[in-house]
Amino acid sequence: MRVGLSFDDVLLEPRYSEIKSRSEIDIGSSLGEGLKFEVPIITAPMDTVTETSMAVCMGMNGALGVIHRYNSIQEQTSLVRKSMSNLVKVGAAIGVQGDYLERAVELVESGVSVLCLDVAHGHHVLVKDALKELSKRLPSRIHLMAGNVATKDAFYDLADWGANSVRVGIGGGSICSTRIQTGHGVPTLQSVFDCAGAADDTDVRLIADGGIKNSGDMVKALAAGADFVMAGSLFSGTKDTPGNIIETTNGKYKVYRGMASKEAQRDWKGSVSSREGISTHVRYKGSTENVLEELVVGIRSGFSYSGARNLLELQSRSEFLQQTGAGSKESQTHILTVK
Ligand code: XMP
Repeated sequence: MRVGLSFDDVLLEPRYSEIKSRSEIDIGSSLGEGLKFEVPIITAPMDTVTETSMAVCMGMNGALGVIHRYNSIQEQTSLVRKSMSNLVKVGAAIGVQGDYLERAVELVESGVSVLCLDVAHGHHVLVKDALKELSKRLPSRIHLMAGNVATKDAFYDLADWGANSVRVGIGGGSICSTRIQTGHGVPTLQSVFDCAGAADDTDVRLIADGGIKNSGDMVKALAAGADFVMAGSLFSGTKDTPGNIIETTNGKYKVYRGMASKEAQRDWKGSVSSREGISTHVRYKGSTENVLEELVVGIRSGFSYSGARNLLELQSRSEFLQQTGAGSKESQTHILTVK
């Protein structure tokens, strides 16, 4: 049986650097022609993360937001149109059953350039059929993102079926209970290690998704071979997430929930099948730009510790090491826990 490594199991060894100023570092990444981004971060297509306000904030700051699909076609296209009036590049999610084809066509007509086939188990015949159908029906300029998957075989298959990028990570999200409910999953960073070779072979972009807790995890995912990272919880509770601020005597909160949680399923389809997520309240974080800026500063600094001026250099120069439990403890700020 092999070992699956998670973010906290590894560190990047600092490397000799000739970078004198962090301004020499370009952390940008690309999903393909015409889809270059200054910041390699994508916000998750979840109903407590990305609607118009988040998509616009990400777009204005060099990143990408993918507008969720848990609404009617009319509601989603209206969110896209409102975002389009401020940007040029917008992403939106679709499923692989029911109205997905009609939804895809309407979203493309509304101006999306990135369509995300957003399902829990992406290595599936329905994803295969949908990707093939969409590749036939839509203009080739439309970028097809698909997932989620956890293995190299799945990555190769989705690439073969027509995906231009693949979301990698099953069960690692902060609000996921898939691994508890089903016993299935692979630590997200391990999946990135496993799929990186397939991404190089196929020239399909790799998006690390689920369980990213800080900019250090982002740097590890990028160094392991991801082109982008996707985040939900890091942006949850910010000003630009959908949903009201909840005032309590203990401070301000917003809701963050898995799309397979009981609460989310009830709201978007009126019934609950397999519960593979939870709903929770997170502290209100205020400015989304501040959260993003802090992550960008951390990523830039991470590139500099590897002596890397760009993503390619980071991936070729980085050296991972596995740390022990004691190392992992030492890696946290620990003064408060030392007796
Ligand atoms: P983070 O850790 O950034 O993860 O909060 C966000 C990612 O989690 C996935 N997601 C789910 N996975 N049950 C799951 O097993 C769910 O209910 C659920 N909702 C979201 C998704 O990939 C997202 O980008």
